[in-house]
Amino acid sequence: MNKFTPTKPAGARSVDDITGSRRLRRMRKADWSRRLVQENRLTVDDLIWPIFVVDGKNVREPIAAMPGVFRLSIDLAVKEAERAAKLGIPALATFPNVDIALRDQTGSHILDPDNVINRATRAIKDAVPEIGIITDAALDPFTSHGHDGILRDGIIVNDETVEQVTAAAVIQAAAGADIIAPSDMMDGRIGAIRDALDANGFQDVAIMSYATKFASAFYGPYREAVGTAGLLKGDKKTYYIDHANSDEAVREAEQDIAEGADMLMVKPGLPYLDIIRRLKDEFQMPTFAYQVSGEYSMIKAAAANGWIDGEKAMLESLLAFKRAGCDGILTYFAPEVATMLKE
Ligand code: PBG
Repeated sequence: MNKFTPTKPAGARSVDDITGSRRLRRMRKADWSRRLVQENRLTVDDLIWPIFVVDGKNVREPIAAMPGVFRLSIDLAVKEAERAAKLGIPALATFPNVDIALRDQTGSHILDPDNVINRATRAIKDAVPEIGIITDAALDPFTSHGHDGILRDGIIVNDETVEQVTAAAVIQAAAGADIIAPSDMMDGRIGAIRDALDANGFQDVAIMSYATKFASAFYGPYREAVGTAGLLKGDKKTYYIDHANSDEAVREAEQDIAEGADMLMVKPGLPYLDIIRRLKDEFQMPTFAYQVSGEYSMIKAAAANGWIDGEKAMLESLLAFKRAGCDGILTYFAPEVATMLKE
């Protein structure tokens, strides 16, 4: 057996010599001192809760890949909105699971003022006017192919999609949406939506741009939730950003700001903290992250297996967004974390 005996360097320095007496552990020594120097904090004001809505009454369908998340009929969505408001959650983001018979090539049902999203907005605004409603104008829950845009000869056509998304945004605003959050990544959509909102008297309706939405594997469970998983052929690489790119994300955000975005969003969240930091440093805009379905499911699945402490991982992941520069986070954990923060 080889035995190695380390030699002490001649004239070995003390730790105080090495550090120049600077010891970062001093402030970490107790709970009170750690609290005193804590740089970032997560509060309920940071949370936006994405919810899934469906037609029907008293429907609460579990989503297998998202334990603890349900598709809710509007009556139950209203109840959840009431609970969210009581917890102090500032806003909800709604996503529909649309009857398959109502989906078509152009996603035309998005223009129906009485589709499930617009009815949900009206019902929630009616019952809980103090909570903010954010709606997505993307076509994917409404198209028969699951893409966010209109598909013609195998191509997602940009300008025609912009027209459709813009019309949908105005209809959503008329239903009472406070913020339009278009997630489709078509060129020119932010400016077109701003013009159309203004022309229709919705100057006060804001735009949260999914400015940097990356082509990502982390959207899997969401596609189960809105029922696009089985429909989607191919991928979304011709319109979402290549996840290898960061300068391109900055240019995309810059463009959306120039077109009139009030807020920026980075999506997915945790794998893209570098993008959040770059955008915040570069633009100082209200900046949000979408902790997407796959991120939620990974934490839930590992916790269910006893591999990680789910609550701690949830809190750590959310605080990481604050540290990276986020003003808020869209997260399926919103009610759970709001309840914890209240206790
Ligand atoms: C599409 C859309 C996606 C999500 C919300 N709207 C991505 C996609 O299906 O490609 C993902 C949300 C999530 O994963 O939580 N417009």
